[in-house]
Amino acid sequence: MLRSTFAVVERRAEHAVTFFYSHLFWNNPAMRELFPEDMQPQRDRLFAALTHVVTHLESPGLAEYLGQLGRDHRKFLASPALYAAVGSSLNAAFAHAAGAAWSLEAEKAWSEAYGHVADLMLAGAREAARAGEPAWWDADVVRHLRYGEDLAVLTLRPRQPFPFLPGQYVSVSSLRVPRVWRTYSLADAPRPDGTLELHVSRIPGGVMSTALVDETGPGETLRLSVPGGGLTARTEPGGLRTYICAGTGWAPVRALLAEAAETEPELKGRLFVVARAKEYLYGRHDVERFRERLDGLSVTYITSAPGHRKDQATERLLQSLRACVHWAAHDVYLAGPPGFLTEVAEVLEELGTAPDRIHHDTLPPVGRFTVRPNTAAERLLGPPPPLWHNPSARAPREP
Ligand SMILES: Cc1cc2nc3c(=O)[nH]c(=O)nc-3n(C[C@H](O)[C@H](O)[C@H](O)COP(=O)(O)OP(=O)(O)OC[C@H]3O[C@@H](n4cnc5c(N)ncnc54)[C@H](O)[C@@H]3O)c2cc1C
Ligand code: HEM
Repeated sequence: MLRSTFAVVERRAEHAVTFFYSHLFWNNPAMRELFPEDMQPQRDRLFAALTHVVTHLESPGLAEYLGQLGRDHRKFLASPALYAAVGSSLNAAFAHAAGAAWSLEAEKAWSEAYGHVADLMLAGAREAARAGEPAWWDADVVRHLRYGEDLAVLTLRPRQPFPFLPGQYVSVSSLRVPRVWRTYSLADAPRPDGTLELHVSRIPGGVMSTALVDETGPGETLRLSVPGGGLTARTEPGGLRTYICAGTGWAPVRALLAEAAETEPELKGRLFVVARAKEYLYGRHDVERFRERLDGLSVTYITSAPGHRKDQATERLLQSLRACVHWAAHDVYLAGPPGFLTEVAEVLEELGTAPDRIHHDTLPPVGRFTVRPNTAAERLLGPPPPLWHNPSARAPREP
């Protein structure tokens, strides 16, 4: 029942998302304040995530994922009442978008499934609160170093202990762009003085990266959410490993190496550090420090040749990887921009690395909707423009 109604709604996703948010904010005006001012960039993420989990209820690991998501949603101030509000707007949006495919049975199936998902998220949130975990951590910026035009290394001091594992990332929010949260890797293993380091690369037009690289300075406070992510050390002691990072992908790899330098200084492995040009090898000093402490680590720096396209660096990396051997015996830790991860992971599989030994982070799959016609008329004319939820248009007319 869930899948058959979703098959119809998916093709009306633009309608459903628009209707969902306008229904949610119309009926709960105070909730608008919890979402970013500009919702356009990732407006479909909450909705896509909701529909993804509800249609994948039998997936292994879903309960754990939802517990974590609920724990993390404490930063959005999501209370049981707000979960109920989201559930009823989801139902309304589905009823609207599914049209004739909507029925009492469909409504019952979606309400039950949503209830199950919300219960698991709320249980995760309750458990974290019981364990005394804050809903977020305030952290003061104590140092801000610029490298080149568009890169900054920020040192933060959380006001409360902030436990995490080397290789994990954290969601960051700044009052400069209220209610916007973006993920950044933690660039060191936990330090004795409790400070953290983030490496941020400015994306043209990017709201958070511009605020962090160009505007933020010492003395300012950022907000951090629960650390997460699976790029943590998985290799048995004595096992071979390769680290490959591009740009600020150096951050989580640096954390993994810092951990290894303490726990397994005899490790055998190789490290590839990729940057678009020599001046962007901002971590070189640290790499050399690790090379001194880890005798068994071979290091290769790769950049584009001067005056060449920046993606020449990736082509050069792939050539170097092809020249290496024993890929089947290595765990590979990969970090960098999403396109880079996909390209390198494909080549590694060709070279013989098992997919489950290629470790990298991407956010949980929330999927993007495809726009496909529902009827023959739509195939010819294109889908109609999405409608906003407009209760006044449906109100009975004055006599
Ligand atoms: C697990 C994980 C770890 C991350 N770690 C780091 C890190 O350590 N350091 C770091 O600098 N970033 C990291 N990122 C990326 C970071 O979360 C933000 O996506 C990035 O800073 C852009 O946010 P923004 O608000 O500035 O841009 P937005 O305002 O969200 O986007 C502006 C425009 O840029 C496009 N865009 C967004 N991201 C990219 C990108 N990476 N490349 C090209 N175009 C893009 C968008 O599609 C949009 O059109 C990580 C992302 C993930 C998922
Ligand atoms: C079962 C219910 C829910 C699911 C499955 C869900 C899932 C998600 C996911 C996966 C994201 C994107 C990841 C992220 O930014 O951290 C997200 C974002 C968000 N969620 Fe939820 N969520 C649910 C309920 C709620 C509720 C009840 C609230 C009420 C406060 C809420 C508020 C938000 C906000 C404010 C965002 C950020 C949106 C943005 O940045 O544009 N969510 N949700």
